[in-house]
Amino acid sequence: MGTFIKFPPHENNPQFIGMPELSASISTEEGQLILAGCSHSTIETIIQETLKVRKENIRLVTGGFHLIHYDRAYIEGLAKRMHGDYGVEQVPPAHCTGHLGFSVFKQVFGDRYKFFGLGETLQF
Ligand SMILES: [Fe+2]
Repeated sequence: MGTFIKFPPHENNPQFIGMPELSASISTEEGQLILAGCSHSTIETIIQETLKVRKENIRLVTGGFHLIHYDRAYIEGLAKRMHGDYGVEQVPPAHCTGHLGFSVFKQVFGDRYKFFGLGETLQF
């Protein structure tokens, strides 16, 4: 369980502060799958908190990464940390990751970037 604390900048919408958000980690033979909702507590925080309780490799992280409000430098840093520091093997980011985010994650993850959208089936 996370809360709406960081994403997007919330100065104009203080009524959302503290709103709960749920993410999930599913253990598989290939490693864990992390499913984020909208990542308002940041996708990096979700990964860090998950690794505290489930010490399995991260096969895949999906969901909205909520990066629409952020610039290329920030998103590239995040994508590189997810790939390098946390060892995320695949990313099929969705909706509020945004088009710039899709582009940057595709660049950083190469063929381990997967398209994911309405009606898609994930293969991992
Ligand atoms: Fe979002």
